[in-house]
Parts: sequence; C-alpha cells; structure tokens
Amino acid sequence: MDFIQWNESVILNVPIMDEQHKNMADLTNQLHGLLETNNKAQINKIFKSILDDMLVHFETEDKLMKESKLPLFFSHKLEHERFHNKLNNIYLDVQSGGKQLTLDDLKLMKIWFFNHIDGKDRILADHILANS
Ligand SMILES: [Fe+2]
Ligand SMILES: [Fe+2]
Repeated sequence: MDFIQWNESVILNVPIMDEQHKNMADLTNQLHGLLETNNKAQINKIFKSILDDMLVHFETEDKLMKESKLPLFFSHKLEHERFHNKLNNIYLDVQSGGKQLTLDDLKLMKIWFFNHIDGKDRILADHILANS
C-alpha cells in the first residue's frame, strides 16, 4: 500500500493543481520506499526533487491566486513558505549527514499534504471553479 494514497478526497478538479499534487505524492512515496535502504545519494536526490517541484508548484498556485483574484491569499502563501522552509531545513540536515531521514519526517509531510490540500488548496480550487 502506498504511503500517501491517492484518492478522490485529494482531487480538486483544477488539472494543473491535481497533476502537481499527484507528482508530489509519487515522489514522497518514492522517498518512503528508500527509507529502509541506506542509499543516501538516492534519498538526497529524491528529497531535493520534492523541494524543487514544490517551489514550482507554489509558484503555480501563486499565479492562480493572483489571476483568480482570490481574497486573503496571503495566508495561503505564508503556509507555503513556512512549510518549504521547514522541509528545506530537514533536507539540509540530512544532506550534511547531521541527521537521518525518519518516518516521522515523512509523516510530517503526509499530514501537511492532506491538511493543506483539503484546506487552503480546496478554497483556491473552489474559487477558481466558481469564477470560471
Ligand atoms: Fe497551496
Ligand atoms: Fe497545492
């Protein structure tokens, strides 16, 4: 069973958002699969891809928020920035060998993923769909 299970509850019906969320879920599942291995190079590589793709995704949502004139979009942006910083700090620790990636780290990502999609992202998607 996948660590992050892709199901109906995650789908927002804005294709670019759904595609990018699916990609992040896939990468997180790959990282989860690597957890038990000692393949540090591969762990660092996939972890870095998650951070890079996440930045692209946040830029995409930023653009969508502006184009659709979403009210109070600042708090959504702030959630993105805080989470990316948090994850980047974990990545830097793992990459430098200061810590090992743990299941708790991945659980943090999973919780954030579902909470954020079902919260801020759903508000954005519903706003786009209602105004298109
Ligand atoms: Fe978002
Ligand atoms: Fe998102």
